[in-house]
Amino acid sequence: MAADKLPADRDLRKIPYRHPQPAGMVADLVLPGVLQAVRDPSGGDPRLWVPLTDTVSFRPVQVNVSQGFYVHVMRVIRGGVLSRHRHTGAVHALVLKGRWHYLEHDWVAEEGGFVYEPPGEVHTLVVDPPVTEMITFFNVNGAMVYVDEQGNTVGYEDVHTKIDMCRRHYEAVGLGADYVERFIR
Ligand SMILES: [Fe+2]
Repeated sequence: MAADKLPADRDLRKIPYRHPQPAGMVADLVLPGVLQAVRDPSGGDPRLWVPLTDTVSFRPVQVNVSQGFYVHVMRVIRGGVLSRHRHTGAVHALVLKGRWHYLEHDWVAEEGGFVYEPPGEVHTLVVDPPVTEMITFFNVNGAMVYVDEQGNTVGYEDVHTKIDMCRRHYEAVGLGADYVERFIR
C-alpha cells in the first residue's frame, strides 16, 4: 500500500522493515531477568552466578569469541577484592548497586555511575564496608592480565577462560557444561 493511501491515523514510524536481515548476521541475544535471582532469591536461578571467590561472582550476559570481549554482571558481597590486573582492551562499567573503588585511583564508582577504563589501565577493585553488596555491569574487551604489585604477570582471564569457568561451574551445578553456549556470539 502506498504511503499516501494509508489511513490518516497510521503512524509511519511503526511500520517494520520489510526485508530479511543481512546474510551472515549472528543471532540476537535476549536474556530475561538477568538480576532476578539477586533481587528476589525465590525468583531466577542462583546457579547462573559463577563464583570467582567466596565473595565475588559473575553472571555471564555475552561471551563474544569473534570479537574477543565479554559482558557480565559482577556481584561482590560482604566486602571483597578483585585482584590487581592490567587491561589490554577498553572496559565499560555501569554500577547497579553499592559502591567500589580502585586502590590506584581516588574516585569512587557509585550506584548509577558509569566508568570507562582505557586499555593499559592497571587496578585493584575493592568493595569496602559498610557496603554489603555491590553489583556492576561490565563490558570487558581483550584480556585481564593479573599482575603483582611490580607489574609482573601472574595470570590472565579472557573470553575463553570465562567460557571454561562457566562450563566447569554449570556442569558442577547440574545445568550442563553446554549451558554457556547460549551466551556465545
Ligand atoms: Fe578491571
